[in-house]
Amino acid sequence: MLFPDYRGRRLRATDNFRRMIRETKLSGDDFILPLFAVEGRAVKKPIESMPGQFQLSVDHIVDQARAARDAGIPGVILFGIPDKKDGLATGAYASDGIVQKAVSAVKEAVPDLSVITDVCLCEYTDHGHCGVVEKGCVDNDASLDLLARTALSHVQAGADMVAPSDMMDGRVAEIRGILDDEGFTHIPIMSYAVKYASAFYGPFRQAAECAPQFGDRKTYQMDPANSDEAVREATMDIEEGADIIMVKPALSYLDIIYRLRQEIDLPVAAYNVSGEYSIMKAGEMMGWVNAKEIIMETLISIKRAGADLILTYSAVDVARELNG
Ligand code: PBG
Repeated sequence: MLFPDYRGRRLRATDNFRRMIRETKLSGDDFILPLFAVEGRAVKKPIESMPGQFQLSVDHIVDQARAARDAGIPGVILFGIPDKKDGLATGAYASDGIVQKAVSAVKEAVPDLSVITDVCLCEYTDHGHCGVVEKGCVDNDASLDLLARTALSHVQAGADMVAPSDMMDGRVAEIRGILDDEGFTHIPIMSYAVKYASAFYGPFRQAAECAPQFGDRKTYQMDPANSDEAVREATMDIEEGADIIMVKPALSYLDIIYRLRQEIDLPVAAYNVSGEYSIMKAGEMMGWVNAKEIIMETLISIKRAGADLILTYSAVDVARELNG
């Protein structure tokens, strides 16, 4: 149909018409809120690189978890920043580690909220890499056992789902194996299957104190130029037992989200990462953009591309806005 028979503006004329034909709608159900746990009590330390985000001691984590639940968000994902780091990331799988304590406190206080944990070693190693370092290289196979032990300890503390973000080959199978052996066959794995070596993680590395002390993460995270490889990574993780496939970051990778949504039949998650968040906040601080509006627009774009769930630092603000 051509103009003048078709006039696209007819159905854009009123808010009611626009609501009637809107194809993509956001809801609180779409979001997972990331939180950063630190040792101590009554700690709420602003993260300079991420305006509006904080490092929180367990008591404040519980408050934030409650706020997320009250805003209608189904889950949070916890990151831990330990007091001490070492070569073997001991704090990652300690039964009294920071994430383990945060998980059990949240599950006790807000049992109806799902608690997901980020499974990685980089916040716990003194060199800041996501695996064990041998002779200056990140040793894939030596890291698998530690990652699996980390996931198990999170689940033993009460985690409802684990999310490995380290990008070692074979870790999903290793984690599935240990969880099944220990009687946790019901715990799902959300794999950061398609995680690119991205500069958009910059602000997070300050938040989680996990910048690599030498080299970079390009030997394990994916090359931003690749798309077929994303399908390969996702397929491998599905074979190994992943229940949800994540793409990370989100905004520069909407084509990857779209492609995976077409090619795989598991839920696809997208991580709207720290750099994406902070750039928008910075733009607002400069007075150049309305952060609320561009955040809403970008979250819609991520969902429109095909994401079934979105990890975002804006989760609570946006869910409240959607609730009116
Ligand atoms: C840990 C991890 C990172 C992020 C999530 N888990 C950092 C990294 O890989 O360097 C980034 C999250 C964000 O930027 O918001 N491996």
